Amino acid sequence: PTIRNYDWTISQKTIAPDGLERPMLLVNGMFPGPLIEANTGDRIVVKVTNNLVNGTAIHWHGMFQNGTNWMDGSGGVTQCLIPPGQSFTYNFTVPNQWGTYWWHAHAASQYVDGIIGPLVIHSPDEAHLSHYDEDVIVMLSDYYHTPSPTLVSWYLSPASDGSEPIPDNGLINGLNYFNCTLDSQALFPTHAPCRSNAPRSVFDFQPGLRYRIRLINAGSFADFQFSIDNHTLSVIEADGVDMQPVDVHRIPIHVGQRYSAIVQANQEADNYWIRAQMNLNCFNEVNPALDASVKALVHYTGAPVSQVANSFDWAEKAWPGRCLDLDASMLKPFVVRDAPPADVQVILDMSFQKITKKRVSLGYVNETAWVPLKKTATLFQANKGKTNFATTQLIVTLNQTQTVELVVNNYDEGSHPFHLHGHQVYVVGEGRGRYIPGESPLNTVNPLRRDTITLQTFGYTVLRFVNDNPGMWPFHCHINPHLNAGLMVQFFSLPSAVRAFKIPAELKKMCNA
Ligand code: C2O
Repeated sequence: PTIRNYDWTISQKTIAPDGLERPMLLVNGMFPGPLIEANTGDRIVVKVTNNLVNGTAIHWHGMFQNGTNWMDGSGGVTQCLIPPGQSFTYNFTVPNQWGTYWWHAHAASQYVDGIIGPLVIHSPDEAHLSHYDEDVIVMLSDYYHTPSPTLVSWYLSPASDGSEPIPDNGLINGLNYFNCTLDSQALFPTHAPCRSNAPRSVFDFQPGLRYRIRLINAGSFADFQFSIDNHTLSVIEADGVDMQPVDVHRIPIHVGQRYSAIVQANQEADNYWIRAQMNLNCFNEVNPALDASVKALVHYTGAPVSQVANSFDWAEKAWPGRCLDLDASMLKPFVVRDAPPADVQVILDMSFQKITKKRVSLGYVNETAWVPLKKTATLFQANKGKTNFATTQLIVTLNQTQTVELVVNNYDEGSHPFHLHGHQVYVVGEGRGRYIPGESPLNTVNPLRRDTITLQTFGYTVLRFVNDNPGMWPFHCHINPHLNAGLMVQFFSLPSAVRAFKIPAELKKMCNA
């Protein structure tokens, strides 16, 4: 196999993605961070040097890590953090998957401050290889002018009353415009040096070519509706799973999710807006400083160079009053697979509860609010044969190689993008209210498979996955404040295989730092 080597240094640096200066945490000074690109079967080797004042860990979102659970990069779960001043080398193969993924810090709230980047795996087995000419990566993120530790401590204090911090802006590939005079109206005014009219991202289109847009929501809170004026999006991939093409005007995408859509450069040579509309319904308050319509530009070769387009929001025209365009029932995996029958069922109830004494809301899965372990990782404990874990760790042990049916009831007024590490899951049921066995409808015929699933507001979701990957696998809300508030459960898959893991000594050594 080809070895893909990367040498990364993470350090703090002040930059101005939207014109306003703020300190960020960056890999090799880049934002978004470097692209990892490999072919199926390759080995990915990333030496990470931590020049931050806190520990860090890097997670490869969507990688199966079959047989290398300890390379998953989940702080407190599969590793202790890489201490300041030290290096650790992640090293894993990508045997049996392809598509669009991303990587990010999985320690405290660090990824919100910039430690994110795309990860693309190519394969000759991809369904739509011959249907496009070029790859384009489009990373969306909500964005804050205030460093995340301040946001998180505000969120976890009585002052927030359980409301998430509202973004100051949104970015497309790390850039956007910001009107500097609005800084003073923000929840946390920065008074930092700021330049209005900062440039947006521009994507060059050559007439006649077909572009595969690899859309990644690398944000920490907001879900987006993505569209390109005048251009149809033909969706062909969701979270690394090839789909039967479906043409839409816009794509709703929640935090952690990815889609690929083929776009034909078949319009008049001109400039067109790319729009990523933040879904404001989910915000409890409005930030007057926020322009929720995040933009970038498509620029056709030959058209005048401009920072603005004259195109109109055609999705709005085509679907007046409709919030969504693409929905999960429209997505059919290209390689048809029915969901296997369930061998065992796990029921999870998810809610926010106020701790009366502290007047603070925490996120609970089955009455447990997760707090990351510091001096050890649950994987290391499991590897040593431990079976009773700290009360802050909700651990569901799955002993057999069999199909697990996961029923998640969302008792919260918000929608929650839950990510299961190390697996793709079948989405066999979704609906309003609590799941009622035998009554709530399920679809097991070629259901959508993916790794990050939006749990609807006050609704249930039924998932299935094959428990064939030994390890300690987080299943958590990818909204960063919610993860920091405890919304995480861990699946302890195939304990006897986990006890037999030979975990590299240098990984365990970091626990004593
Ligand atoms: Cu994107 Cu637990 O990860």
